Amino acid sequence: LAKIEIKLGEIPEGKSVTFKWRGKPLFIRHRTQDEIVAEKAVPIDELRDPQTDEQRTQNPEWLVVIGVCTHLGCVPVANAGDFGGYYCPCHGSHYDASGRIRKGPAPLNLEVPPYSFLDDGVLVVG
Ligand code: FES
Repeated sequence: LAKIEIKLGEIPEGKSVTFKWRGKPLFIRHRTQDEIVAEKAVPIDELRDPQTDEQRTQNPEWLVVIGVCTHLGCVPVANAGDFGGYYCPCHGSHYDASGRIRKGPAPLNLEVPPYSFLDDGVLVVG
């Protein structure tokens, strides 16, 4: 299985950077404290695909998701939409900064791939 290594020191806080993994876009987001607090506070019963932020992140500073809209597969845009996370312009799906679907036609949250953190600020996906 193909793995990629990402040096987290190169991703500034507040930024979502797109990589490529197994032919798909991969979003790595260095979340701000405000984003972390906001995502942890979202009531689970408001969610279409109910997952807590803790279930979706190993380290709250970092969101790691596949950048493929769960509606029909377009690539969402970072830091856009009504929930500040990602917005899919194809048919208007809004995701939050935990990659959870909040509004629009997509049925599911953005997929979290397998990943792990190495000691030296390196993230391995795959
Ligand atoms: Fe994203 Fe339809 S493919 S909203």
